[in-house]
Amino acid sequence: MPVWIEHADVEDGSSKRFHLHNDKISYMMEVTHEGDLAHVYFGPRIDKTTLSRRTPEVQRAYTANPNPVCEAYTLDELPQEYPTFGRSDYREPAFHLVQADGGRISHLTYASYEVVQGKPSLQGLPHTHAADGEAQTLVLQLKDEIAKTEVHLSYTIFEGHGIIVRSVQVINQGDDPVVLDRVMSASIDLPDSDFEVVSLSGSWGRERTVKRQPLVSGTVSLESRRGTSSHQMNPFIGLVRADTTDGHGHAYGMNLIYSGNFRAFAEVSQFATTRVGMGVQPFDFRYTLNRGESFQAPEVVLSFGSNGLNAFSQDMHAFYQNHLIRSVWRNRSRPILVNNWEATYFDFDTDKLLAIAKQAADVGIELFVLDDGWFGGRSDDTSSLGDWFVNESKLPGGLQHLAQSINDLGMKFGLWMEPEMVSPNSDLYRRHPDWCLHVANYSRTESRHQLVLDLSRQDVTNWLKERLTALLERASIAYVKWDMNRNLTEVASAVQSSARQQETWHRYIIGLYDVLEHVTTRFPEVLFESCAGGGGRFDPGMLYYMPQTWTSDDTDAVERIEIQFGTTLLYPPSSMGAHVSAVPNHQVGRLTPMTTRGHVAMAGTFGYELDLTTLDKEDLAEVQRQVAFYKKWRTILQYGRLYRLKTVDKHSSDAAWMSVSHDSSAAIVTYVRVLEAPQPPLRRLYLQGLNPEFTYEVKLDTGESLGHFGGLELGNAGLLMPVFMGDFSSKMFVLQKVDGEFYLA
Ligand code: GLA
Repeated sequence: MPVWIEHADVEDGSSKRFHLHNDKISYMMEVTHEGDLAHVYFGPRIDKTTLSRRTPEVQRAYTANPNPVCEAYTLDELPQEYPTFGRSDYREPAFHLVQADGGRISHLTYASYEVVQGKPSLQGLPHTHAADGEAQTLVLQLKDEIAKTEVHLSYTIFEGHGIIVRSVQVINQGDDPVVLDRVMSASIDLPDSDFEVVSLSGSWGRERTVKRQPLVSGTVSLESRRGTSSHQMNPFIGLVRADTTDGHGHAYGMNLIYSGNFRAFAEVSQFATTRVGMGVQPFDFRYTLNRGESFQAPEVVLSFGSNGLNAFSQDMHAFYQNHLIRSVWRNRSRPILVNNWEATYFDFDTDKLLAIAKQAADVGIELFVLDDGWFGGRSDDTSSLGDWFVNESKLPGGLQHLAQSINDLGMKFGLWMEPEMVSPNSDLYRRHPDWCLHVANYSRTESRHQLVLDLSRQDVTNWLKERLTALLERASIAYVKWDMNRNLTEVASAVQSSARQQETWHRYIIGLYDVLEHVTTRFPEVLFESCAGGGGRFDPGMLYYMPQTWTSDDTDAVERIEIQFGTTLLYPPSSMGAHVSAVPNHQVGRLTPMTTRGHVAMAGTFGYELDLTTLDKEDLAEVQRQVAFYKKWRTILQYGRLYRLKTVDKHSSDAAWMSVSHDSSAAIVTYVRVLEAPQPPLRRLYLQGLNPEFTYEVKLDTGESLGHFGGLELGNAGLLMPVFMGDFSSKMFVLQKVDGEFYLA
């Protein structure tokens, strides 16, 4: 068993140092002579025998000293692991609590530590996992002796990943209640501020586009107050050096395993250090702990990469694949699906669905997904959410009959649902008008004509578990698309005391996780895909339960390139739902060729979202070819190492990426010429991740061979792209290792 966590006592025994390390990273902490837990280092691996590194202490003007005889010791400069408020550190605190007597300061000092093999699980929250031998966990216990509060900081280091997973548990050991105002999951003080902040931000239909901005004095705050992790801001903050690119440079990241309100910040201090932290959104959050009660903050994934953003992303992908996603599907080939949403919207009957399904089966598609509109009286978006009973006037014979007919065509059957919602025009709402989030005497704000069920209530989550279980037990449903189509408003619960209303945001998420835990463990073989109006909840919390997420409601091939680049900064291609849709595209009206739509969608878990019965012969033949191609290469496309070769943005004219098999014996390269130019320059792709010793045959996806090339040659001299291609056109190349080749020396 390798030693990943080391600790040492300072000579006089008054203090302690900790060093977590593996072959990629080192993370060091120190208990200072004053009992505070100081951050010492996080970055590329430092020789594991070094435990003498310490936090510097410098006498500063106009700072306060907790110990008057140590004027060089000030909390306002001390790099810390879990900073508190009120005792002379004026930077962002990680922790803020109100005691029964109104006291608002905390003094957390180190009490003890424990090293645990493997990775302990968290109760009620999604969490990373590892077998013993794959990870070690350090738990540091801090105490506030006056407030009688304990804070346990957990740090897990994993074999082979540049990643530390942190979380925090707060326990009230006193007789009086305490109120938590802020419990960040992690905070870290980096020694300089020469960083750019990376965020994944956007809106509905243009989620997770990569933004970089220089860090200057003050605080950058990335957050959601919407009740979901949100389209607008993914629960991620990155810090990179100005010269960091896809292929080069240092990158730090924090990604919260949580699906609700969050906050991440980066604050540059007066001494040009950077405090970066992340956790549950403190705005409108208050959580009361009575005697003996505890609060568990979600896990945050701290990652560090030395070799550019491609390597950073690959590490995140492998980590989420191995240590977060829990479904039996996490390493299985994902089926090619056809979804009827953009094909029919609400306007369907059995005949129409079966006609699409028949055509899908004929071209080799494996899964038919029935989207919105199959239940209650729903024929548009104004009614019936909550009435999860099939509409037999639309689908005679019910779901069983439809599922059976789909199965008879040789395809699996999948179903859309939006379990967290209720339409005011529904039987459920008429029976239980108090089951939604609402504030007494105020009107209930609708969005898409719907309200949000109060999942902080156990009677509501119990009902939901029963209803979903009954539904999934009856028909042979192999796949579920779990949707969530609005943000939260009037966040209050009819069954909670007035003092605890600000717990509702968090309790909603805990209730959601409770339902997901129940449904996904009760139906382990079902492939779940999460969705929130596209990618409004594409986060590690949902990924724990559901191995796929619908990336965006924007299905335009050109728009999708940027969205998919941003998404795969963190999340594995196997988690990224990507479908070919009709043209003119329903979101932006763009006309793109079927080949380009196919090539772009093959970057994720592939499918179609159009009426296949309306395609002409040529397009149908292309669909058939794409399906066969994807089946042959999907292991690489879903699980290979991804390299972004040419990042697209609004001003670039082309984009390229490639996926390489883990033994580097094969690769798929995708090139998109977004906008053509007259007299275009010759463009080459400098391929990455290939074995320099190997010879590869390069073919187009249509089968035409372009010849044999050395791995080193493809990296250094590049692969030449066609000169003139036209707007929105694309090429896909397959590289396969060949044996017994000799080159000119
Ligand atoms: C959301 C989803 C779509 C579709 C509709 C159905 O917008 O993102 O894919 O399922 O709901 O109402």
